[in-house]
Amino acid sequence: MQKLLVTGGAGFIGSNFVHYALDNTDAHVTVLDKFTYAGNRRSLAGLPEDRFALVEGDICDAALVDGLVANADVVVHYAAESHNDNSLHDPRPFLDTNIIGTYTLIEAARKHGTRFHHISTDEVYGDLELDDPERFTESTPYNPSSPYSSTKAGSDLLVRAWVRSFGLQATISNCSNNYGPYQHVEKFIPRQITNVIDGIRPKLYGAGENVRDWIHANDHSSAVLTIIEKGEIGQTYLIGADGERNNKEVVELILKEMGQPSDAYDQVIDRPGHDLRYAIDSSRLRRELGWTPRFSDFEQGLADTVKWYRDNEDWWRPQKSETEAKYKVQGQ
Ligand code: NAD
Ligand code: TYD
Repeated sequence: MQKLLVTGGAGFIGSNFVHYALDNTDAHVTVLDKFTYAGNRRSLAGLPEDRFALVEGDICDAALVDGLVANADVVVHYAAESHNDNSLHDPRPFLDTNIIGTYTLIEAARKHGTRFHHISTDEVYGDLELDDPERFTESTPYNPSSPYSSTKAGSDLLVRAWVRSFGLQATISNCSNNYGPYQHVEKFIPRQITNVIDGIRPKLYGAGENVRDWIHANDHSSAVLTIIEKGEIGQTYLIGADGERNNKEVVELILKEMGQPSDAYDQVIDRPGHDLRYAIDSSRLRRELGWTPRFSDFEQGLADTVKWYRDNEDWWRPQKSETEAKYKVQGQ
């Protein structure tokens, strides 16, 4: 039985991965999570005790990390400060967790010769024009825009350097925007769904022309397992499911699914430095490792996500008013 150490496993994508890995492999999973505002114990409730362990702690804690990494076959590193808007107001935690935390983990992984998979984002590549026929590939130059994406870019470069200088047994994946269950209500899709449930009009930054390339969290998880199993050490793989939509289209789909008029949203102050468009060319992962996404019907996936938030109000309710109060101060 393979022993996986999953950092950030109480967050959105990490918890989806933990469920997916327990359902689809016979691995034992240990989660290391600091339980910041973004970590949620309820996302990991009811998992099998003989195959799952939870450690509360910080990835910057070298002694704790060393012991856990020594005991793992593979580290899957999701833990991060992940929200662009937060990074614009208080960048420091992004430097600590995304840079120093990643450094702490790769030092332990090199010491113990542990296989390491680093989870990253397409936002490290900056943004594209709306009419650009090119999409991001593994050779697109790094050009991050925000404190969030620049610290993720920094962490990717540390992993690359540790591979080259120290022979770290690592792979990297850069994925596009995820959606699905267990996503914090600060993020775009859950914020708008829970707003509608609460009788608040969805909030669109600017004109809503910005494009994101949506992928279901389960497709992200299957891609990560594929890379862990078959990926070439030292390589980067882009993960995407051809899901480009602009934000206005997404809000209109949510409103339609929730029985509201398609124009029942507000336009609010735009995000400073707001990346215009992300788009992933994932042909390398498909061609070389044989991965394909399964959740290709975005409208169906969005409808399932709306249902999940309707059915799991006790999961998101405790965060909602604090999150909206923060946005209100920002005029968003
Ligand atoms: P999230 O904010 O929902 O979860 C992050 C988790 O990390 C939380 O459980 C938090 O408690 C934990 N954490 C934060 N700091 C920590 C620390 N110092 N030590 C231990 N745990 C800590 O984030 P997410 O959206 O699930 O993103 C997970 C990863 O996937 C990140 O690396 C992010 O860059 C990447 N990613 C996200 C997306 C997306 O659409 N959300 C897309 C591509 C890549
Ligand atoms: P977000 O979920 O924060 O992800 P990211 O910044 O990593 O892409 O935002 C997705 C898109 O939605 C982004 O273009 C910003 C926009 N957005 C809104 O229009 N309104 C909102 O309330 C939020 C949170 C985001």
